[in-house]
Amino acid sequence: MAKKDIDWSNIGFSYIKTEKRYVANFKDGAWDEGGLTEDSNIVLNECACVLQYAQTIFEGLKAYTTVDGKIVTFRPDLNAERMIESAKRLEMPVLPKERFLDAIDQVVSANKDYVPPYGSGATLYIRPYMFGTNSVIGVKPASDYQFRVFATPVGPYFKGGAKPVVIRVSDFDRAAPHGTGHIKAGLNYAMSLHAIVTAHKDGYDENMYLDPGTRTKVEETGGANFIFVTKDKTIVTPKSDSILPSITRRSIMYVAEHYLGLHVEHREVPFTELKEFTEAGLCGTAAVISPVGKIVNGDEEICLPSGMDEMGPTIKELYDTLTGIQNGIIKAPEGWIREIK
Ligand code: PLP
Ligand code: COI
Repeated sequence: MAKKDIDWSNIGFSYIKTEKRYVANFKDGAWDEGGLTEDSNIVLNECACVLQYAQTIFEGLKAYTTVDGKIVTFRPDLNAERMIESAKRLEMPVLPKERFLDAIDQVVSANKDYVPPYGSGATLYIRPYMFGTNSVIGVKPASDYQFRVFATPVGPYFKGGAKPVVIRVSDFDRAAPHGTGHIKAGLNYAMSLHAIVTAHKDGYDENMYLDPGTRTKVEETGGANFIFVTKDKTIVTPKSDSILPSITRRSIMYVAEHYLGLHVEHREVPFTELKEFTEAGLCGTAAVISPVGKIVNGDEEICLPSGMDEMGPTIKELYDTLTGIQNGIIKAPEGWIREIK
């Protein structure tokens, strides 16, 4: 088997069909044994719960080729756990953690030729998801579900790669107080589509969402958490019940404290504090760590001292350490890396 003939260093964040995907079905209160298929299409009844009431959840993680040629995934156990939380909130069945991990292993292993080589800047993005399949017309959860996992090679989420992005404070909210912002439900992303389309039209890379209750505190973007750096190199990340608990953000907090000896604060961040920070970044599986150069709120512009040309020094240290762990250059904390055979 040989690596696919793909220009790895020049792919963006878009879908490239790979050979195999995983499918398991839930019916009569139980999951079937599941397995790999080559069929990338899904045929559903017109009244399927996912189509009418958006009963769908998903996850996102990546497989990497390490410096010594191994193929690994990064903390997939945390994706399994978060998917369980998402399923419970949308009244969907739980897929046991071991089943989730086995499905990821099978998909990556079956698509090894699509795992970008070490040093190419690309990775294999893995998308597990689950949705209600049977017809439902009164508002209630489905009784039948499908869990699937596909994989697609991806490059940087933002076009400029490591170039700082410009974001604006959105007039819209992506989540509601006591809503679903803390889980990975498709409905949260549907909510954000109009906001991202208008932000792009107006020349911004992303939206900053404020807390939906008071609109005074920083939450996250449509697809990443925030990290900020203070003058004395403390790492600050916003805390709120309506933010998705990013696995990248949790990993960065650990790395900052235990690898770089930095002080870390996970707390509410008033919007008015932003002008105090020296660096800002977006963090997530897709975004990795993308530096933020400027934040615009109506007529107000906050230009981060780290500027519009490159990552600030602390964000760069975090980026190098995190990606070093993912690429096998830096020793990972116990249990963070799962090798795919
Ligand atoms: N916030 C949102 C809304 C996201 O969609 C994502 C992506 O998964 C993240 C944050 C980052 O989470 P993670 O680091 O687990 O990918
Ligand atoms: C991820 O980072 O995995 C996400 O789901 C975010 C999305 C913007 C692709």
